[in-house]
Amino acid sequence: MAKYKTLDDFQVKNKVVLVRVDFNSEIDPATKKVTSDVRIRAHAESTLKELAEKGAKTVVLAHQGRKGDPDYTPLKQHAEILQKILKCPVKYVDDVFGEKAKNAIKNLKGGEILVLENVRSWDGETKSGTPEQHSKTELVQNLAPLADLFVNDAFAAAHRGHVSMVGFTAVLPSAAGRIMERELKSLSKALEKPEKPSVYVMGGAKADDSLEISKYVLGNGIADYVLVGGVTSQLFLAAKGFDLGKKNMDFLAKKELTGLIPGIKALMEQYGDKVVVPVDVALDVNGKRKEIPVSKLPTEHSIFDIGAKTVENYSKIISAAKSIVVSGPMGVYENKEFNYGTKKVFEAIANSKAFSLAGGGNTTAAIEEYGLSKKIGYISTAGGALIEFLMGKKLPGVVALETAVKTKKI
Ligand code: 3PG
Repeated sequence: MAKYKTLDDFQVKNKVVLVRVDFNSEIDPATKKVTSDVRIRAHAESTLKELAEKGAKTVVLAHQGRKGDPDYTPLKQHAEILQKILKCPVKYVDDVFGEKAKNAIKNLKGGEILVLENVRSWDGETKSGTPEQHSKTELVQNLAPLADLFVNDAFAAAHRGHVSMVGFTAVLPSAAGRIMERELKSLSKALEKPEKPSVYVMGGAKADDSLEISKYVLGNGIADYVLVGGVTSQLFLAAKGFDLGKKNMDFLAKKELTGLIPGIKALMEQYGDKVVVPVDVALDVNGKRKEIPVSKLPTEHSIFDIGAKTVENYSKIISAAKSIVVSGPMGVYENKEFNYGTKKVFEAIANSKAFSLAGGGNTTAAIEEYGLSKKIGYISTAGGALIEFLMGKKLPGVVALETAVKTKKI
């Protein structure tokens, strides 16, 4: 039995259902327009569509950016995008829990959807706290009395113990939405009892996250192999004792990543052959790709990709895997000269028979660019929440659903 309730556990016809979604999208800083509707579409085509079809009075609560950041915007355009996707009217009010918002909620009819203003326009939202503490806030005190059910569909924000993420679960019957359910099921498949051999492919530049994930999945017997690429692999090579050359070492120092080297060294000493690093790299020589074996390091040129022999090694391990998690590209994939490693490794993952799970903005974009989306087992909508989940951390948004009030029925 699931540890949390779902939409299957409640009758929602004509009930006011408060749904926390994660509409937080990429925004063009110049125009302030949403440039990718992936997250809005995911919630629209599952939870929100289902609630509308079942005749619920749906109230959508979401955030976009943080105050002071270039991607902080009102949710009017998100409501318009939602309306286009659902092909039915979606109401919007530029208020979170004042009289305007309350009246709009009271006037809702069964089957209608209302999007409230960016919940982060209220300064109290981003404080972390327990469901009990947050249930006493203005947001919850004003909105909960108008609602019959709280649905948390915002897996991508579940690593935040913010008011709208956890506060309602202390006072309202609560359920996981369909996206929350889907993410948790797919991620648990990769993390709890993965079919073996299980391979984690860690690329990109977030080497601190990759190190934490590697420690957790190797330490708990979840991964049999960790394959590294991207900037992360440069740190692993440095930890193995390779001198990457001044330019590359200066780059790593500027990104404040060199401090990770002792931790990576300890990881590699502990897990030996389970941590697989590149045997060759591609250099940027006046804009052109030039591959060298790592034995030829140091170099005066920037390392921009893994080499062909490394791709071959990684592809062999990937083709024998039964489950694969991939996060982060293998190199500077945006540049055609240096997308070889990412393309080939991602193709190997797509062509393997393993259950594969991918996440993170760049990873998802590269998978889409190479037309591999349909061949990946599951593509997560989450960034930070996925990373924390893979580190074995408990996500406050999920814990709140598991411990939500059990007594009240609707
Ligand atoms: C995300 O995109 O990771 C979530 O929406 C959380 O956003 P935040 O990092 O601004 O809290």
